[in-house]
Amino acid sequence: MTTAATPRLPVTAIIAPGWDQPRWQRALVAAAPGLEVRLWPDLGDVSEIEAVLLWKQPAGALAGMSRLGLAQSLGAGVEHLLNDPAIGDHVALGRAVDPAMTGEMVRFVVHAVLAISVDAAGYRAQQAAGLWEERSVPGGALRVGMLGLGELGAAAAQALAGLGFTVTGWSRSARQVAGVTCLSGADGLNQLIAGTDCLVNLLPLTDETRGLIDARLLARLPRGAHLVNVARGGHVVEADLLAALDDGRLASATLDVTAVEPLPQSHPFWSHPKIVLTPHVAAASTPETMAPILAESLRRHAAGRPPLDPVERTRGY
Ligand code: NAP
Ligand code: GLV
Repeated sequence: MTTAATPRLPVTAIIAPGWDQPRWQRALVAAAPGLEVRLWPDLGDVSEIEAVLLWKQPAGALAGMSRLGLAQSLGAGVEHLLNDPAIGDHVALGRAVDPAMTGEMVRFVVHAVLAISVDAAGYRAQQAAGLWEERSVPGGALRVGMLGLGELGAAAAQALAGLGFTVTGWSRSARQVAGVTCLSGADGLNQLIAGTDCLVNLLPLTDETRGLIDARLLARLPRGAHLVNVARGGHVVEADLLAALDDGRLASATLDVTAVEPLPQSHPFWSHPKIVLTPHVAAASTPETMAPILAESLRRHAAGRPPLDPVERTRGY
């Protein structure tokens, strides 16, 4: 009897400057014993590298990788794959989808929306002023609009619907999410915006979505609406956001992401009284939960199959 040989796993490099690369290496080798994992910047003979696991790789980091067949993002976003000229069209692209990351994002978004619904900021200000007074808060009447109904957006929308919020979601193609009114297309976006008190952004950053949250869109939200951006800073025209906050059209912005990260010290977001800032931490990539998923994509690649969560170049995500 003959048994099929297990295909050899690709020689893999991790290029994620600033991250704990040795921890990723340990988790990967535990998930795929025998896998050869090299760490940036000590990549050895780069012509031997067949797969790369990437987060914000420096320009030129992939130069000379003539055998590269798989470029896998260590996060959900893939701009760093699509914008790297060293990744040719023949290279398969994968992105990270990890239930642990989804759980983190759901909790972050739920926290942000609940804080708005109970006017946590208003009560904090009252405490500072020594004021014992009931405020008029939206509570469950806050209507949530979710931009993006993918892995993260659909899960967050469903969790918010489960908490009793009226949730409307928007995606490129028609979707179905339990408890959520799902819309698509330009008319769908108009309808969502007109009926949204709290706009949550979980779109990927693509040519179509860059700058989507601009003065025109903000002007169509009901007066006093809130923005929660946990996707990418490039979705928001920052000057338009500041103008909408300053003229009272928008009541608050909760921003986990900004156009330039880290946010420059001179940026007006730091001290704006209506902005709540966090340093891109809504949903982190965790080596121990993600490694088995990445290992499976490497095994698939070795067997000539696409990675678990492939990126479609034509749609940009
Ligand atoms: P995903 O599964 O690819 O879902 C993207 C969603 O956006 C889909 O519903 C898609 O529509 C929709 N979409 C894309 N282009 C659109 C367009 N032009 N018009 C309308 N809808 C459009 O992505 P994900 O895993 O949920 O992640 C979303 C983003 O979250 C990532 O790209 C990343 O930027 C961000 N993120 C941030 C953090 C953080 O810590 N702040 C962590 C992880 C991810 P279809 O359903 O029709 O395809
Ligand atoms: C984080 O921002 C990610 O894209 O995973």
